[in-house]
Amino acid sequence: MAWSVENMPDLGGKVALVTGANSGLGYQTTYQLAKNHAHVVMACRTKSKADQAIAQIKQSIPDADLSFIPLDLADLASVKAFAEEFKSSFDKLDILVNNAGIGSIPFLTTKDGIEMNFGTNHIGHFALTIQLFDCLINAPNARVVNVSSEFNRLGNDQFDDINYEKSSYNKWKAYGRSKLANALFTLELNRRLQLKGSKTIAITCHPGYSSTNLQTRGYEMENANLMISLTNAFNSLVAQSDVDGALPSLYAATGNDISAGDYIGPRIFRWRGKPVKQKACKAAYNTALAQKLWNLSEKLTGLKSSI
Ligand SMILES: NC(=O)c1ccc[n+]([C@@H]2O[C@H](COP(=O)([O-])OP(=O)(O)OC[C@H]3O[C@@H](n4cnc5c(N)ncnc54)[C@H](OP(=O)(O)O)[C@@H]3O)[C@@H](O)[C@H]2O)c1
Repeated sequence: MAWSVENMPDLGGKVALVTGANSGLGYQTTYQLAKNHAHVVMACRTKSKADQAIAQIKQSIPDADLSFIPLDLADLASVKAFAEEFKSSFDKLDILVNNAGIGSIPFLTTKDGIEMNFGTNHIGHFALTIQLFDCLINAPNARVVNVSSEFNRLGNDQFDDINYEKSSYNKWKAYGRSKLANALFTLELNRRLQLKGSKTIAITCHPGYSSTNLQTRGYEMENANLMISLTNAFNSLVAQSDVDGALPSLYAATGNDISAGDYIGPRIFRWRGKPVKQKACKAAYNTALAQKLWNLSEKLTGLKSSI
């Protein structure tokens, strides 16, 4: 039997944190976690968007237990402030869904001067996870869910030229590189957790192709109105809904047969449908590359992980 939200356990007493919780997959993930009684901390960069999402969820789940803490993953000072505020309110974290992301954008850098896809999708989440590590360890069987993409197959990259100083920027490959980094982060995080004998596990998932704001963000930045219309039309024809796109994250976060290092995605052509366990691309299992990425991430964030 395929996994569905009907299989979700009661999450009363659990603390969950979802990045990018105001939109698309993050919103739907938050909705289902809250419906099943988790307290969900919504980590969003714009308060008004978070407030709107909270109001919308509460319309159908009046007793949804939600809170908001501001987080801009493209700013390491904001990630640090987020972690401090989180730790002042919660002593444990049961479910961390590293979901927020951007893609297919023109070349930009974060506040800290890191290429934007890599800086937001990987480095921001690396810094967040490392700084919340004590809270994860304090939960009995915590899970870290890293939301990747099948575009990770394009990211065949050695992480030697983060800001494209020696090669030319390609927006699809840069997104793919950041999404490969999500999967490699899972790999190295699990290796370190297992060495410590920790019961916290990390899982990678991908949502196939789901209709959200992700696909048009870059075109909006370029004022490419024709591409926005074409993409919206394409989405309405072939994409699955954001509700279904959130299923891999929810299965990874709450499924009772999930193990460290699982890779979860939609069943039909890895594009749509019920979430199942799959094999990631070969590079996602490269332990040497995962360790290299971890060391680079510590260097770029100035953070030394406790594991
Ligand atoms: N949709 C798909 O088909 C698809 C396919 C493969 C992978 N994914 C992955 O799924 C995840 C969710 O994307 P989505 O499809 O739900 O897209 P979305 O609707 O555009 O949502 C992305 C979320 O990330 C947030 N975000 C972006 N930059 C941020 C930053 N610097 N700090 C904090 N939050 C930030 C956005 O906030 P704002 O609303 O403020 O911009 C938004 O809440 C991403 O990791 C994406 O790579 C999606």
